[in-house]
Amino acid sequence: MHQRILIVDFGSQYTQLIARRIREHKVFSEVVPPHKALEAAQQPGLQGIILSGGPGSAYANDAPQLPIEMLDFGVPILGICYGMQWLCENLGGKVVPGESREYGFTKMQVGDTSSLFQEVDSETVVWMSHGDRVESLPQGFVRMAHTEDCPEAAIGDVERSIYAVQFHPEVGHTQQGARMLQNFLIDICKCDADWTPQDLATELIAKVREQVGEDGEIILGLSGGVDSSVVGAICQQAIGKRCHAIFVDNGLLRDGERDMVDAAFREHFDLDLTTIEAAERFLTKLSGETDPEKKRKIIGYEFVEIFREQAKRFTNANFLGQGTLYPDVIESVAAHGGATEVIKSHHNVGGLPDDLELDLVEPLRWLFKDEVRELGRVLGLPDEMVDRQPFPGPGLAVRCVGDCQPERIARLREADKVVREEFESRGEHHGVWQYFAVLTGASSVGVMGDQRTYEEACAIRAVQSNDGMTADWVYPSRECLQAISSRIINNVRGINRVVLDITSKPPGTIEWE
Ligand code: XMP
Repeated sequence: MHQRILIVDFGSQYTQLIARRIREHKVFSEVVPPHKALEAAQQPGLQGIILSGGPGSAYANDAPQLPIEMLDFGVPILGICYGMQWLCENLGGKVVPGESREYGFTKMQVGDTSSLFQEVDSETVVWMSHGDRVESLPQGFVRMAHTEDCPEAAIGDVERSIYAVQFHPEVGHTQQGARMLQNFLIDICKCDADWTPQDLATELIAKVREQVGEDGEIILGLSGGVDSSVVGAICQQAIGKRCHAIFVDNGLLRDGERDMVDAAFREHFDLDLTTIEAAERFLTKLSGETDPEKKRKIIGYEFVEIFREQAKRFTNANFLGQGTLYPDVIESVAAHGGATEVIKSHHNVGGLPDDLELDLVEPLRWLFKDEVRELGRVLGLPDEMVDRQPFPGPGLAVRCVGDCQPERIARLREADKVVREEFESRGEHHGVWQYFAVLTGASSVGVMGDQRTYEEACAIRAVQSNDGMTADWVYPSRECLQAISSRIINNVRGINRVVLDITSKPPGTIEWE
């Protein structure tokens, strides 16, 4: 049994980020809702407890609660935001509504640079997001750090090893947050930092084996992207040929994709792989639809129908394997009962019917893209597969603004091929998260060979990102832009203008739809 940090989820949008940060320090963690926390804490290996933030107020009647026995395990505890306030209310301190909300980057003065703040600067920038504040400290606690608006930005009872912070150390904007978490995990909880991506792979394989049982079979939706490829590797190592990979040519793939996926999988995997020709089926269903969400839902539905049809070919195919990642989950579903906005319905999360009749196998559901790439490497996937730029499940449809008529998709495919070739042949793709073409849906007047043209505008979209949650636009070299522009305008019929998209995420998203 590995050493464990238990994260109690009070409903913060950052809870999975805490887990990810802990993995970065090579420590295993487990996220549990408050009502399961006590039972989880009683299992072997507990080294520490983290109480997450959350939208509630610790003094409210309906505030999320934890059994008070959670404080009696004799392991260090770190409360973050709501977690801090819950600790204060339950240890004899007091929490009150703040005069104003403290949100965003905040300068914090650290008074105690031992324990939690070892090697942290005496003035450092932290990320705040809270309305309530701690008014009086529980007995035994001292103030460790403060900001202009928050006298109790960090507090602790070193004797009992209970610490609490009002800010979010897990968010990248907290400059020395990683150091603070390291102090908590390694120095205070005495974790050995020996949880590796190999351990994670072993655990995920074991979980799939357990979920599917002795003779269950998985229908795996394979897109050729890194996520579903890694799921393929996990499922294959878990249950071998009881995993049936289905690659759907939906007519929305990039140039050369079908052959590449087919060749790569046959070479590197001993999987049962079937390719389904379904371009006409998808494009017919999409015909005339211009609403981005409806397009996504149509595509998601058609994928699921195909997987259901395929499942019928096997006796025990009761499972659907998908490469869903954590960012897909949070952007596709309204978390915590509806407060969060749905940004886009990722086809493998937001588009599933209620009567699916297949249980989902989603081993990557709590991971971020860079972690999945790391996992892919330890599972033995070749670099060209692991380092591929992400390609969305709904394919070119979400880059073809408006109606996905076959000739528009073909136009976009040709333009996209040019963008990819120019980036890659110049080595300008290194370190770039995604680089592709978008058919904008806007038409404009041009002149070619003394002739008036009235054709579509194509956008070049290139972004840098760590996890797809935020992104900065990339400025390719003038030579690269020049080559893309002239090749597209000269060779791709129906496009007479090329523009560069210089929008970050937020406020834009990476894909146009
Ligand atoms: P957005 O456009 O939401 O994209 O900023 C963030 C990242 O997710 C990819 N993406 C998808 N991936 N299914 C997927 O598997 C989808 O429906 C989907 N939509 C967007 C996108 O390419 C980017 O990397």
